[in-house]
Amino acid sequence: MTGEGESVARGTPVIRTRGITMEYPRVRALDALDLDVGQGVTGLVGANGAGKSTLIKVLLGLLAPTSGDAQVLGHDVRSQGAAIRARVGYMPEHDCLPADVSASEFVVHMGRMSGLPHTVARERAADVLRHVGLAEERYRVMGGYSTGMKQRAKLAQALVHDPDLVLLDEPTNGLDPASRDDMLDLVRRIGTDFGISVLVTSHLLGELERVSDHVVVLDGGRLLRSSATSEFTEATGTLLVEVLGTTTERDRLGHALAERGLQCHPVDGAVEVVPPPGGEVGGVDVRDLVRDTVIDLDLGLVRIQEGRHRIQDVFAVREEVAQP
Ligand SMILES: Nc1ncnc2c1ncn2[C@@H]1O[C@H](COP(=O)(O)OP(=O)(O)O)[C@@H](O)[C@H]1O
Ligand SMILES: [Mg+2]
Repeated sequence: MTGEGESVARGTPVIRTRGITMEYPRVRALDALDLDVGQGVTGLVGANGAGKSTLIKVLLGLLAPTSGDAQVLGHDVRSQGAAIRARVGYMPEHDCLPADVSASEFVVHMGRMSGLPHTVARERAADVLRHVGLAEERYRVMGGYSTGMKQRAKLAQALVHDPDLVLLDEPTNGLDPASRDDMLDLVRRIGTDFGISVLVTSHLLGELERVSDHVVVLDGGRLLRSSATSEFTEATGTLLVEVLGTTTERDRLGHALAERGLQCHPVDGAVEVVPPPGGEVGGVDVRDLVRDTVIDLDLGLVRIQEGRHRIQDVFAVREEVAQP
């Protein structure tokens, strides 16, 4: 990582923005954003158009904000873009790979561009390509790569110069569920194995929960929430009950539980039950009442578990109580 003198002290924000606003001719992409991002893995989530990619380009010094200030690793984004890019790796959202070049040549080239001597760039390129799982295919031209391989090559070039921070813009975009999980594991390991701070974006609101220490939610260029992941996933005090079948079975259960005096509503495939004070109805424990109701209705119980907050809940408009 960095030498003694320039190392980032623990607890010092890796990214700090104050009142960052970014106006495009027709749209305000960032609206007076105040944000502090610490070390570790931070998930930046928000729907398409929320301003995630714009924020990343501002942080890299590639786009001058309309107003406000921001520092990355202590460097000012307006005047010290080159210093920022020397210490920060960037994985862009869109395909940026030359089709007729191998991943090995490309990553070596990117290392050279970052100022690494040729032999060091070659060693680092081999290391990072192995790390992202492209050891076998690294001499093949990237035009023939699958989306998953292209995403890995993009990740490798972001790591080649041993940055202190990487900004990963939608690294799971276009991947199937298995490749998505592999990519998220890689992202997590950049943080844990190498101690590199990570800011990673996704428009899929729930997918970064398991790899992020901290989650920042953007909506329409504004900060909706910034919290430790553990706060997002705290127990809600509710019970989630899932039964076999479709929404028909789920709603039969919901109505029966409501008739027995429980406050409940549908959440995805499950019924969320809000236990009454004391956790009992007429002397019967809520879990027992749920179990008995499932049996009385002749339904198959899949699970009863504690409800937990999810990132989606920040945006959620609760489903209306299901129609019978
Ligand atoms: N170069 C641009 N010119 C004009 N509008 C843009 C440009 N880039 C992004 N936008 C607009 O700014 C808003 C935020 O976009 P973006 O930062 O790409 O969001 P996200 O990455 O969260 O999907 C959107 O409304 C988008 O259409
Ligand atoms: Mg984007």
